[in-house]
Amino acid sequence: MEKYVIKGGCRLTGEVNISGAKNAAVAIIPAVILADSPCRLENLPDISDVKTLTYILESMGAKVEYLDRHTVEIDPRPVDTDTVSDQVARRIRASYYFLGALLGRCRRAVVPMPGGCNFGIRPIDQHLKGFSALGCDYSLDNGMIAVSAPRDLHGASVYMDVVTVGATMNIMLAAAKARGLTIIENAAREPHIVDLANFLNTMGADVRGAGTDTIKIHGVQKLRGVTYSIIPDQIEAGTYMVAAAATHGDVTVKNVTPKHLESISAKLVEMGVTVEEGDDTVRVVCDRPLRKCNVKTMPHPGFPTDMQPQITTLLSIAHGTSMVNESVWESNRFKYVDELRRMGAQITVDGKVAIVEGVDHLKGAPVRALDLRAGAAMVIAGLVAEGTTVLEDVKYIERGYENIVEKLVDLGADIYRSQEPDQVMDKIG
Ligand code: EPU
Repeated sequence: MEKYVIKGGCRLTGEVNISGAKNAAVAIIPAVILADSPCRLENLPDISDVKTLTYILESMGAKVEYLDRHTVEIDPRPVDTDTVSDQVARRIRASYYFLGALLGRCRRAVVPMPGGCNFGIRPIDQHLKGFSALGCDYSLDNGMIAVSAPRDLHGASVYMDVVTVGATMNIMLAAAKARGLTIIENAAREPHIVDLANFLNTMGADVRGAGTDTIKIHGVQKLRGVTYSIIPDQIEAGTYMVAAAATHGDVTVKNVTPKHLESISAKLVEMGVTVEEGDDTVRVVCDRPLRKCNVKTMPHPGFPTDMQPQITTLLSIAHGTSMVNESVWESNRFKYVDELRRMGAQITVDGKVAIVEGVDHLKGAPVRALDLRAGAAMVIAGLVAEGTTVLEDVKYIERGYENIVEKLVDLGADIYRSQEPDQVMDKIG
């Protein structure tokens, strides 16, 4: 089993390049099947979720060619199925974007019930509500969801009962080639929603209002293949910003959109960290003790839930008592707190609220990555802890962070990846 071995106490300094956004890439890759000619996607993150989705496309008949680690050319013309049947699809939540994309392409889609990070119930009722409004029937059989538009895939008004990234994107995908006008109200506003809209519009779609809570989509008959570059990853950038602050470092995070990072920067500044914005960089300097602050996760432009474990880890070594309120997911997203406690953090969780009492230092321990962002938080904890931390289940982290070990080593961290459990335990003694 792969592990990270982290010796804490190194101050991170230097520059780190941020990769393309996972949560944009995982919607844009399925969207390629809406085109009637090949697409070239650039600035893709080199992560396992992207590899899984291009593998699924290949299994459906698409021609997929990696030109380098970050650029892929996909010819969707040979796709000759409406079914995503591969076992692999179950492992990755984003495989549900094939529902909207296949509906747009051929009016029918059969996709395995999605998997993905396990931090609680993750319903898809809003996706199905949207597809129904567009004229679809659906059924669940043997773990597969089948959605089809037996008569006509047509535009409609859809009001989202909760702000959901996945359902907003899935309805955009289906509506891009539906007949007439679709209006999504109470839509999610995340940067990756805007990126998907830009991709679809570059292909010839007519999507307006992405980035606001009302998105209007006039369906078109044809979409063409294009070359498109994915936006930088907001959460990867935020993770390195927090790692810089936690280690009292001085790190310039490059290839970012500073506007996407404002809610994260604001919390760091409240904690006493200096954040300098450039055109496509942010420099994070921490040269004084960290102060407590309260955080509530919210849909964009609020503080992202995908940064909640990382900021909680930072607060665990700040002066004073902070409160973290998880308002997007249920309290399961605090499961990693047990791992942090093993390292000496003083955190109590009551439902959707964590009370974090800052301690002077954390101590290295054997811990596990419970999901992608929880894993990133444990890496940060290991970087600041006294002694050695051995982090297991790092496959979750590698679903979403490109070359995290190499990037941290370049910043001065003492971290390496090991596949040999016994040697690791010997090393700790
Ligand atoms: N929800 C419903 N019904 C639905 C869909 C969602 O009630 O049909 C609820 C969820 O239970 C949750 C809230 O709405 O309470 C928000 O869920 P959303 O649909 O926005 O989440 P998602 O699309 O499944 C994406 C990201 C997550 C990120 C959330 C929130 C991808 C592949 N995943 O998930 O990212 O936490 O949006 O921003 O885009 C991650 O990258 O680590 C990750 C988990």
